[in-house]
Amino acid sequence: SEIIPGAIRWRSPSNIALVKYWGKHGNQLPQNASVSFTLSGAATDTTLRYKSRQEAGESVEVALLLDGTPNSGFTERTKAFLEKLLPVYPFLKQLSFTIETSNSFPHSAGIASSASGMSALALCLVSLEEELFEPFADRAEFLAKASYLSRLGSGSACRSVYGGAAVWGKLPGLDGSSDEYAVSVTESLHEVFKNYHDDILLISKSEKSVSSRAGHGLMEGNPYATARYAQANRRTDEMLSVLKHGNVERFGEILESEALTLHALMMSSHPPYILIRPNTLQVIERIHRYRADTGNPLYFTLDAGPNLHLLYPHAVAAEVKQFIREELLYFCEDKMYLADRVGKGPERL
Ligand code: PMV
Repeated sequence: SEIIPGAIRWRSPSNIALVKYWGKHGNQLPQNASVSFTLSGAATDTTLRYKSRQEAGESVEVALLLDGTPNSGFTERTKAFLEKLLPVYPFLKQLSFTIETSNSFPHSAGIASSASGMSALALCLVSLEEELFEPFADRAEFLAKASYLSRLGSGSACRSVYGGAAVWGKLPGLDGSSDEYAVSVTESLHEVFKNYHDDILLISKSEKSVSSRAGHGLMEGNPYATARYAQANRRTDEMLSVLKHGNVERFGEILESEALTLHALMMSSHPPYILIRPNTLQVIERIHRYRADTGNPLYFTLDAGPNLHLLYPHAVAAEVKQFIREELLYFCEDKMYLADRVGKGPERL
């Protein structure tokens, strides 16, 4: 039957991994479990407009606008993603799509937009499925499907569909956990973590020399891979217990070791590569000194790039922000940082 044209709009946030996903196999499946905080401020707004196509084609018909401007690079990537979904969603061939997307954070700020972007689009697609077919039994099923589709777009994106904290990857000790999609662990979050701060320090905005995709691939020849995957699973387990009991010091120890381990894996790949910058180390040294001097539980983590995420509880926020302004901004490109918090998850607009 004829489909009435329509539009679906979602806002979805980015997330920061506490225990990192690094290494994959098969169809975008993780080599180890990972756990993240979902952020609040760093988000993507996506509008999916759809209408019937004159006749179903072989490929998906889509045009993508970034901040209102047609973007051929993103259009190609989105088309490839939607075509990858055809086995799950054959109806995508019968429609014509226009996707409008924009990020809350500045372009090319060196902040990955793939987690927020892919999850926003996946949420739009699952809402479309509901509109064309029938509603999901409950919100949990809806979100599991959105997480599954997000994963096929970008692994870490599957953790962004839940507020608070999420785990991706099968863990024997965690009921319902799966390699196919993430699950929420927000219910068991200790109070101190519910509104934890994450300030993002932009050390460099330049394009990184080795993409995440290539980085995951290089784990295949990494001599430490097996030990690493086992460590990450153990640490995800331990992190879940830390998140429940509110031990901010142990939280920080695992957090920083995860960041340094991720970059050590890059340095021990073949060929080796280095994504941190001299100013990344300048900031790390100052954070360590600050912690020794004040006893405040301020800890850092890194993604696959030079920028630092600074995590700390709300009780020390005023002091930490003063420290950032007075001692750390000097090492940041444009002398600015993005203040973020643990967030409530995506919302339909
Ligand atoms: O989702 P991808 O393929 O861009 O990989 C992201 C990997 C890290 O951000 C470095 C870690 C993580 O778990 O998010």
